[in-house]
Amino acid sequence: MYNPELEALIAELEKRRQKVELGGGKERQQKQHQQGKLTARERIEELLDAGSFMELSTFAEHVGGILMREIEAPGEGVVTGVGTIHGRRVYVFSQDFTVLGGSLGKRNAQKITKIMDLAAKTGCPVIGLNDSAGARIQEGVDSLSGYGEIFYRNAIYSGCVPQISAILGPCAGGAVYSPAMTDFVLMTEGSSYMFITGPEVIKSVTREHVSFEDLGGAEVHMKKSGVAHLSGKNDKDTLGMIKTLLEYLPQNAKEKPPFKATKDPSNRGTEKLTEIIDPSPKKPYSMVEVIREIVDDHFFFEVQPDFARNILTGFAHLGGQPVGIVANNPKFMAGTLNIDASDKAARFIRTCDCFNVPILTLVDVTGFLPGVQQEHAGIIRHGAKMLYAYAEASVPKITLITRKAYGGAYLAMNSRDMGADLVFALPTAAVAVMGAEGAANIVYRKDIQQSPNPEATRAEKIKTYKEAFDNPYVAAARGYIDDVIMMEDTRRVLIEGFTMLANKEESRPFKKHGNIPL
Ligand code: HXC
Repeated sequence: MYNPELEALIAELEKRRQKVELGGGKERQQKQHQQGKLTARERIEELLDAGSFMELSTFAEHVGGILMREIEAPGEGVVTGVGTIHGRRVYVFSQDFTVLGGSLGKRNAQKITKIMDLAAKTGCPVIGLNDSAGARIQEGVDSLSGYGEIFYRNAIYSGCVPQISAILGPCAGGAVYSPAMTDFVLMTEGSSYMFITGPEVIKSVTREHVSFEDLGGAEVHMKKSGVAHLSGKNDKDTLGMIKTLLEYLPQNAKEKPPFKATKDPSNRGTEKLTEIIDPSPKKPYSMVEVIREIVDDHFFFEVQPDFARNILTGFAHLGGQPVGIVANNPKFMAGTLNIDASDKAARFIRTCDCFNVPILTLVDVTGFLPGVQQEHAGIIRHGAKMLYAYAEASVPKITLITRKAYGGAYLAMNSRDMGADLVFALPTAAVAVMGAEGAANIVYRKDIQQSPNPEATRAEKIKTYKEAFDNPYVAAARGYIDDVIMMEDTRRVLIEGFTMLANKEESRPFKKHGNIPL
């Protein structure tokens, strides 16, 4: 029955909703599109299962203040709510650059913290789609307070529920520090930037001239700074990567990551490894190919692929079970561990551990990178993070030594003594304090110097050391390696190993929290 009073109320609701949905207006939305960007709402639509989004705090308004009196900010510059990705519930905020540059005011922050609190209470991931000029200048200290509330929750909920940040526009100040405190940072190439202070401020302070792209584009943060974990070619691509990432993560720290059924047989032979891994320690090979040969459907989802390429980090499935993989990469810097590689690996190990993702470590490493620069920049402090992270991790941990495992780096790559549950080696493996040449030169220096034929003596001593240590059997004899396996059995053995460890429980002595060397 027609009720004019009710009709008017409904019309009022629709009018208000439309106004909010229009954000900063058609013109600014077109500008987003011209820059190759989606709008805040289009991004949510792209990310979530169709029709699953429920918006919250729709009609929130800014808190006012002297400089905000005349300003309207429909939706408060951020769209927040809850929805599903492949049927799994996630909380989302999507900053609207068309409204005051997506800048963050007090109420805008409250919209975000509301969904962060709900996500933590209900045990669901939080996904932030960031497109923000940082603290809203007109709100002064209130906007700073807003960031404080978000940073606080980023830390408090860290390790409770996955927090994922996509950077989808020019993000400055607080708009980059909050993402930096989350588990994963994704960027879009060519349209997203991250910096604490922009090119203009830098020019006035240090007189350096730098473009947005060179200062904080996706390439910079993927290759140089290591701030970003993944980058997409456009917003759609980046949002797709978030969906893939979630396939390896549980809803919260109390759950296990989801099983993914596969048609790839667990006992598929991995004989191709015999072609990939050259027994000669000086010949590099692709560890990515090794990983692809082993894992389900040959699919390796690499994280931070362009940063510290001497170590590989990423996710895959083994017999349907998600695993995190850390692997030396002999193709770059002979797979040695340096500062960046240690930071990259330590962070990834801790991410896996807090979300119950078992860790597979593939070892082919001659040592930590020697050099004055590395020593002075603190390789001791950074390398220690890796030792700490592996020892601290209580998830199932399997190590496979593919070739060289020397010295401190052997220990750092999740050796038996650092807490590996199972250690396997291929016949090509060698566990020693260092390579035979270096070892012979040190241990037999006097014999070599005093020999009438130093070169022949050197060669003989190298042979002696090689026979003694340059193989997996000394370590296996002493229990540091559980088995030396055939290359074709690698996939089957690793799947059996992780299946065996699936219900692993490991307690630690009481502490408030550990003190990782940062
Ligand atoms: C309020 C802002 C704003 C801000 C931009 N706008 N920044 N409004 N607060 N911080 C508005 C502009 O007035 C403009 O409004 C609209 O947003 C789009 O901005 P443009 O400059 O036209 O866009 P663009 O050329 O794409 O440049 C984007 C930008 C630039 C690089 C982000 O706007 C910029 O440098 N902004 C300032 C960044 C910054 O210094 N933020 C504070 C960081 S400090 P109209 O009406 O014209 O559309 C911080 C403290 C947190 O965050 C503490 C951390 C520890």
